[in-house]
Amino acid sequence: MSHPSSLTITRPDDWHLHLRDGAALASVLPCTARQFGRAIVMPNLRPPITTAAQALAYRERILAALPEGADFQPLMTLYLTDLTPADEIKRARDAGVVALKLYPAGATTNSDAGVTDIRKTYKTLEAMQREGLLLLVHGEVTDPDIDIFDREAVFIDRVMQPLRRDMPELKVVFEHITTREAAQYVASAGAFTAATVTPQHLLYNRNAIFTGGLRPHYYCLPVLKREVHRLALNAAVASGNPRFFLGTDSAPHASQIKETSVCGAGCFTALSALELYAEAFEAIQALDKFEAFASFNGPDFYGLPRNTGKVTLQRQPWTLPEVLPFGEAQIKPLRAGETLSWRMS
Ligand code: DOR
Ligand code: ZN
Repeated sequence: MSHPSSLTITRPDDWHLHLRDGAALASVLPCTARQFGRAIVMPNLRPPITTAAQALAYRERILAALPEGADFQPLMTLYLTDLTPADEIKRARDAGVVALKLYPAGATTNSDAGVTDIRKTYKTLEAMQREGLLLLVHGEVTDPDIDIFDREAVFIDRVMQPLRRDMPELKVVFEHITTREAAQYVASAGAFTAATVTPQHLLYNRNAIFTGGLRPHYYCLPVLKREVHRLALNAAVASGNPRFFLGTDSAPHASQIKETSVCGAGCFTALSALELYAEAFEAIQALDKFEAFASFNGPDFYGLPRNTGKVTLQRQPWTLPEVLPFGEAQIKPLRAGETLSWRMS
């Protein structure tokens, strides 16, 4: 494929998304509902979504915030804690919850209630394996002695390998991978392990955080890594391996939370997620692999039907707005004020 003027693909899904709640939810949801058929909704609200009943109520709030006529289905998750009872898993499945999210305690935004030792959750993980619920993993150790740039690689040795050995048929998604080590690990891990990859980790290395000054809108967790890692992630998605798929990790924070002395982690990409991914795939001449990454590999791994509609991206310069409304506040999208080369029609 040389230089197509448009790109039509099966309607994609976002397999990792933060929607927040209340007025913030109402502000960002239309962006995702326009581009994607479904999204895996992260449970790290304050307080977190830890029960099937809370997930059902959150799902209702999301549906109520959808624009008229939107064709979008939220896929709900629970926040795994040391204390999640094994019998919550059946209730979760009956409520349509598809996965639980493992946040190592303290790893990221709203992760204080996360897991302190994965072995404490084994009864619950066994129930998930039985009931067919997935485990979605924020793959970073939180040990302050480990350099922040090494936390993902160390997590593979300390948590992923033992988990895979002990729970071989639990479907695990290594979320938002950022390193060569994680890409290699997932590629060789077999049929029950997959990974999502964000647009920012395909497009940028850690220099982006420091170009000409500190750039908070490029700060997310896991943090951007060196160029060798970015290249490895691009190679992984270009390989066409079906166990790599789209998950934006779009994580909105009001601009006053980002532009302050302690900046919240997260890149808001929902406004132009497909355009950013298309740019990344085109840069590595892998547009022929884009549709499977965006629209097939995720549902196939989750055991859900693929979407039937289509979306089209045009090669058309599009300058992103500087800010968008975010409840009473404002939010700056990644690449605010810059021009992208693709635009969804
Ligand atoms: O950058 C991030 N933001 N990483 C996460 O894991 C959480 C997310 C958020 O909720 O803001
Ligand atoms: Zn996330």
